[in-house]
Amino acid sequence: SVTAVIVVAAGSGERLGYGMPKALVPLGGESILMHALRGVVAADVARQICVAVPKGDTEMRELIADFTVELVDGGPEVSVVDGGSTRADSVRAALAALEEGTEFVLVHDAARALAPERVFQRVADALAAGAKSVIPAMPVVDTIKTVAATSGAGTEIAPEVVTGTANREQLRAVQTPQGFELATLRRAHGAAADFDDQQSASVTDDAMLVELLGVPVHAVRGASQSLKITTPLDLIIAEGLLEGPLG
Ligand code: C5P
Repeated sequence: SVTAVIVVAAGSGERLGYGMPKALVPLGGESILMHALRGVVAADVARQICVAVPKGDTEMRELIADFTVELVDGGPEVSVVDGGSTRADSVRAALAALEEGTEFVLVHDAARALAPERVFQRVADALAAGAKSVIPAMPVVDTIKTVAATSGAGTEIAPEVVTGTANREQLRAVQTPQGFELATLRRAHGAAADFDDQQSASVTDDAMLVELLGVPVHAVRGASQSLKITTPLDLIIAEGLLEGPLG
């Protein structure tokens, strides 16, 4: 079966504070994007890799062109599309560019640059076994509560008040690569194309759109190395992973 991997790298990376798109931020002497692409190629699950880059970018396109030259014959095809203003828009742009005959697609955050091969394989194996949708997930260590803004009485004490506590045993922190039957993910993203701004802002992964279709989403074990590099602390952790025994 033919599998493609979409790598979304079109985010601004404001929270990292480098003043450049996050995927270009250096990690161990190379960009986050290059680490992510090398990881995807090493996992050896895809015939096609499609990267969504920021609209107007030239730097990532050049890096990707150089990287493509390095790939051996018989390696994956690499293509590039302009991303959109939300992550889902970037995924939609890449979905439209996949080759005819593609059956499965994995969607991966460039920011999860150190996701290990075994996670890609677990996801691909679940698809091969018949899952239409599969995500890597990790147990949660913190207690997670819902909150609301305080209004009226209590406002002077603190800006938020707790509205509930989820049962941690049932919670998972979800990562990428997330794997899908291509037709299912296209249908899910098609349904989300007309979302209003508020609904669009609440879409933080692909699987939640598949959940809205009522299609079961299966969870396999993720990895702590798959952390999403978002803050300066995450970059320190990622540098440490590259140097240390887990790297
Ligand atoms: O910002 P967020 O944590 O949602 O980003 C997750 C991934 O989605 C990152 O790899 C980022 O580059 C990508 N993204 C994108 N297009 C956007 C926003 C985020 O490709 N408009």
